Amino acid sequence: MIRVTLIGTGEISKEMAITINQLPDDIILYGVVSRKAETGAEFAQKYKIEKVFTSLEDVVYDNQTDLAYIGTPHTAHFPQSKYFLENKISVLCEKPICVNAKELEELLIIAHENETLLVDATWPRYMPFVKTVKELPIKHNLGKLLNVHASLGIQKQDVDRMVNPNLAGGSLLDVGIYPITVACMFNDTQVTSIKALSKDTELGVDQSVVILLEFTDGMLATLQSSIGSIMSDISTLSYENGLIELHGIPKVEKAIVKDSGHEVLEEINFDYITGYEYEVYETVDAIENDQLKVKSMTHSESLRVLNIMDEVRRQIDLQYPFEKEV
Ligand SMILES: NC(=O)c1ccc[n+]([C@@H]2O[C@H](COP(=O)([O-])OP(=O)(O)OC[C@H]3O[C@@H](n4cnc5c(N)ncnc54)[C@H](OP(=O)(O)O)[C@@H]3O)[C@@H](O)[C@H]2O)c1
Repeated sequence: MIRVTLIGTGEISKEMAITINQLPDDIILYGVVSRKAETGAEFAQKYKIEKVFTSLEDVVYDNQTDLAYIGTPHTAHFPQSKYFLENKISVLCEKPICVNAKELEELLIIAHENETLLVDATWPRYMPFVKTVKELPIKHNLGKLLNVHASLGIQKQDVDRMVNPNLAGGSLLDVGIYPITVACMFNDTQVTSIKALSKDTELGVDQSVVILLEFTDGMLATLQSSIGSIMSDISTLSYENGLIELHGIPKVEKAIVKDSGHEVLEEINFDYITGYEYEVYETVDAIENDQLKVKSMTHSESLRVLNIMDEVRRQIDLQYPFEKEV
């Protein structure tokens, strides 16, 4: 039996509560942490949660939580993950797992020293479409992957968390991580070149960002994100002899394979509970089997993504206030 405590009562914690309540009975939605007792109590009542905590210390003192799920703003991921790891409670942390690679490097040392599981919750990584799509090029003789084109845009500039530099706002860390994930999921070679341009909001974080990546094997990726406008959520993987469209990143609901003449060769649909269930299954499986890592998202892969985002931010001159103090 694995008891999960959710940290935060926002949008993603709601999704996770809905998800866990539909999973097998041995995964229990045990606790929730809110900075305000009333908010926590309301959330707990709605999602049938036994314990309400108002601090991380109370979770540790209670000593019943097996897994802390961190669904708070980006800037809280590092200190909250660190606290739980130091107290030997496994962590499933929302994306981006940290604000920058330096934070993650420190967290990985703490996870290692405490022999405690740290999992990056970037959700598409765990979904079954990844394995299916990786098999399609051979099945349809598509040849080598040459180009990836992916974008994600939402209109969310009215949400403080999205634009506040003190909370590591901006499109890159919130939604840009998904197009980067698409490129990295289908190419294991090193990124050899990164180019980036951005348009900023009034508060100085990136409203939109355009990224070009080149990989060691020659693959190119054109990636885009925005919090100022919606964008196509169809990603394209272009091969020597055709392409694969992924519809719905981050939650890919359909893959379409086309030949070089744009004729459809195959269309595959994917069904989910919410889409967040796979990261939970894999994390729970790791805890139950005393594993300190999960297969679908390795720590080196999390670092690869954060290193790309660090370089993009260097090029678009986006340093957060708390980074400048260091
Ligand atoms: N929304 C999504 O679809 C989605 C999807 C995937 C990943 N994520 C990731 O999940 C994280 C949270 O996103 P969200 O959309 O759920 O945000 P949100 O709606 O703003 O919720 C975050 C929650 O964290 C708590 N919180 C707020 N400020 C805090 C602070 N300074 N320190 C500690 N806790 C604080 C609040 O809960 P209390 O008031 O109860 O303390 C708040 O409700 C982000 O890192 C995001 O990238 C979101």
